[in-house]
Amino acid sequence: VGLTEHDVAHLDRALELARGVRGGTSPNPNVGCVLVLDGLVVGEGATQPAGGLHAEAVALAACRAPAGATAYVTLEPCGHHGRTPPCADALAAAGVVRVVACAVDPAPWVDGGGFARLREAGVVVDVLDRDHALAVASRKENAPFRTSVTLGRPHCTYKAAMSLDGRTATRTGDARWISSPESRTLVHRWRAESDAVLVGSGTAIGDDATLTARDCDPVPDRQPLRVVADRAARLPLASRLVRSVEEGPVLVLVGAGADPGRRSALEAAGVETAVAGSAADVLAALHARGVQGVLLEGGATLAGALLAAGLIDRLALFVAPLIVGDPLAPGIFGAALVPESIAGAIVAAGLEPSRSGPDTLLDAWIRIPA
Ligand SMILES: NC(=O)c1ccc[n+]([C@@H]2O[C@H](COP(=O)([O-])OP(=O)(O)OC[C@H]3O[C@@H](n4cnc5c(N)ncnc54)[C@H](OP(=O)(O)O)[C@@H]3O)[C@@H](O)[C@H]2O)c1
Repeated sequence: VGLTEHDVAHLDRALELARGVRGGTSPNPNVGCVLVLDGLVVGEGATQPAGGLHAEAVALAACRAPAGATAYVTLEPCGHHGRTPPCADALAAAGVVRVVACAVDPAPWVDGGGFARLREAGVVVDVLDRDHALAVASRKENAPFRTSVTLGRPHCTYKAAMSLDGRTATRTGDARWISSPESRTLVHRWRAESDAVLVGSGTAIGDDATLTARDCDPVPDRQPLRVVADRAARLPLASRLVRSVEEGPVLVLVGAGADPGRRSALEAAGVETAVAGSAADVLAALHARGVQGVLLEGGATLAGALLAAGLIDRLALFVAPLIVGDPLAPGIFGAALVPESIAGAIVAAGLEPSRSGPDTLLDAWIRIPA
C-alpha cells in the first residue's frame, strides 16, 4: 500500500505503545493503536493485561468522537468473540472509516477475519506489505505470540555473554562476570518481559544462579517461570533456585529415567517437575504451560542442542572487551552442528549492534516470525 509520511509516523507511535506493554499481555499479543481525525491524534491505547481490553478498545474509550477517524494498529483487529467482543466490530460501530495495520494476525481464529469484517462494514483497510520495515518490526514485536500460534512452540531467544574471542566461561567454569553491570541490568528487564527463563543443569548447578528479574524499574509485577533442563534431576535442594521458590515458580524438566526419590524431594521443596528429555520436548513442555516466549540463558551444551534442533529464533549476544585466549574454554554453542563448508552455516536474517556500557550487544534474528 502507498503510505504518507503521516501514516508512517502514526504507525511508529502505535509500535511505541505496543513496546510499552511488552511482556505484560501474554497470552494476548502486545498491540498499539492510534486514532487520528483530521490529522490530529484523538485517542491512543495499548493492550491491557490478559482479560482486559485490547488496544483498539482502550483507544476508543480514550476518544470522545471517533466518527470519521483512521485507526493505526500494529496488528489486525480481532474479528471473533474471545474474552472481549471483536475489535473490528467496535471500530466499525464507532464510525472509524479507515484502518491501517502493520500485519495480519496469524492465529487461526483471526487470520484475515478481522480485516474481512471491517471491509464488510465499509471500512477501508490498508495492510503493510510483508517486507515493509514497520511490518517486520511489528512481527518481531509479537514474536512470542506469533511463534506460539503458528509453530505450536515458544519463541526462543538465546542470550549469552562472550569475550572478544567468543568464550562464555573459562575452561574451569568461571563466567563471573563477562558482561558489564549495564548489560546484566538489561537482562533483568528481559527476564521480566519473558514468560520463562531456561538454563541447562550445568549452568543451574555450576553458577547457582537465582534467575529472577531483579533490579528492574519499575519492579516487575510477576516473575518468569524459571526452568532447568536437568535430565538426571541433579539440581541440589540447597541451590538458590530451589530456595527461592517463594519469589517465583521453578520447573525442573527431568528425563524419563530420573530417580523418583530426587523428583519427589524437589517437589516437596515446592518445585514443579515434569518429564522432557530432548530439546524439542523441553519447548513442548513449556508450550503446554502457556509459555510463548522463553529467554534461554545457557549454557553452551543446552544451547547447542536447541540450535541443532532448529529451535533458536534469536540471539542476543553481549560481546565484552575481554580476551580469554583459551581454545578449550567453552564458546556459545557446544558441539551440535558440524557443517563442512561455510555454505552450510546458519545465516541470520540480520545483525544489529548497539552499545551496552563497555559491551556491544549483537541482536541477530535467525527466524523472523511469519
Ligand atoms: N557467558 C554466558 O553467557 C554463560 C551463560 C550460561 C552459562 N555459562 C557458563 O557455562 C558453563 C556451563 O555450561 P554447560 O554447557 O555445562 O551448561 P548447560 O548447557 O547449562 O547444561 C548442560 C546440561 O544440560 C542438561 N540437558 C538437559 N536437557 C538437555 C538436552 N536436551 N540437550 C543437552 N543437554 C541437556 C545436560 O545434563 P543432563 O544430561 O544431566 O540433563 C547437560 O549436561 C558454566 O561455566 C557457566 O558459567 C556462561
